[in-house]
Amino acid sequence: DHMLRFPLVPVKGVPLMNLIANVFDSISAFRPDPSDILVATYPKAGTTWTQEILDLLLHNGNAEACKRAPTPVRSPFLEIVPPPPIPSGLELLEKTDPPRIIKTHLPVQLVPAGFWEEKCKVIYCARNAKDNLVSYYFFDLMNQTQPEPGPFDGYIHKFMQGKLAWGSWYDHVKDYWAAREKKNILFIFYEDMKENPRREVERIMRYLNMSLSDEVINRIVDLTSFKNMKENPMSNYSCVPMPVFDETISPFMRKGEVGDWRNHFTPEQAAMFDKDYEKKMKNSGIPFRPML
Ligand code: PPS
Repeated sequence: DHMLRFPLVPVKGVPLMNLIANVFDSISAFRPDPSDILVATYPKAGTTWTQEILDLLLHNGNAEACKRAPTPVRSPFLEIVPPPPIPSGLELLEKTDPPRIIKTHLPVQLVPAGFWEEKCKVIYCARNAKDNLVSYYFFDLMNQTQPEPGPFDGYIHKFMQGKLAWGSWYDHVKDYWAAREKKNILFIFYEDMKENPRREVERIMRYLNMSLSDEVINRIVDLTSFKNMKENPMSNYSCVPMPVFDETISPFMRKGEVGDWRNHFTPEQAAMFDKDYEKKMKNSGIPFRPML
């Protein structure tokens, strides 16, 4: 039903779904609790994975406790305004007691000032550009509220021009990276989590000033593997009342791999993308790995 696909409207230059743009003042006015933890990402960079790790850390690795509700209810999405009657992120947050694990895709300059004023912990997860793009493409196909992605080749150009919902991937990662020290943001990478999930879970744990046993850490690593999260109805988005997700087109838990872009970019598209990427990212200092 293409009626649902909401147009993008710029908010301070960042294209956002019109339903979000319409209430942006109330989103900006959100007051977090100092104990709240913000998970910030460009869409499809590893948000759900990071949210699950955090919920398990806060619940000492208790799998049952973390099956109390589906991801978007356990860990509300700050700015989301779904079509009614699905509650908005702000409505869900009001009904949830701190410490909350709050998801956002807002670029750093649009994050409500309260998060910085309350000195909330903020974790930013970044993913390599080409895999991030491919994952977003399949999501835009299946999520009936997102703008129509169109053909893949055109989608690559929209991504490069920052014309997708939540704006430019390049600005998003660069602006969070530049802000990370001053704002005490923990910056993690999807590729590092794939390579050594235990190391990254421990990194997150230390950032939260927590110290859990090896046994609990091992359990968290196991429970947050792609396979286990895909099979868990409380983390795979299957049991969310989300008429807007059409999983017959593509599942939310699609592949969970590094390098899937090779199955979708032609060598010519990759070369063109890389040339532009180099120009935009060469001075960023962000330790992304080469996209092999
Ligand atoms: S969203 O809609 O922005 O919250 O989506 P997000 O969770 O950021 O991204 C979804 C992609 O992350 C993959 N994913 C995982 N990969 C590895 N391990 C685990 N545990 C995991 N959980 C989710 C998910 O499969 C999407 O990536 P793709 O490449 O499309 O499979």
